[in-house]
Amino acid sequence: MIVCVCRRVSDREIARHARAGMDFDDIQFELGVASQCGQCESCARDVVAQCCPSRPVAAIQRVPASA
Ligand code: FES
Repeated sequence: MIVCVCRRVSDREIARHARAGMDFDDIQFELGVASQCGQCESCARDVVAQCCPSRPVAAIQRVPASA
């Protein structure tokens, strides 16, 4: 899906860069996302936040063994 129409940047491109460890500012500089009209900024930031490597993917909860 295209996130930034002005610069034709897709969510996949943003996600790939975020998974490589880049933050929003780095991605904006690299891809030009949210650098023209700015309408895509919140969506682009959401994609970065969802793909941040420091963000836990899932929480594991131990269930106590019952007797
Ligand atoms: S849609 Fe991204 S800057 Fe315009």
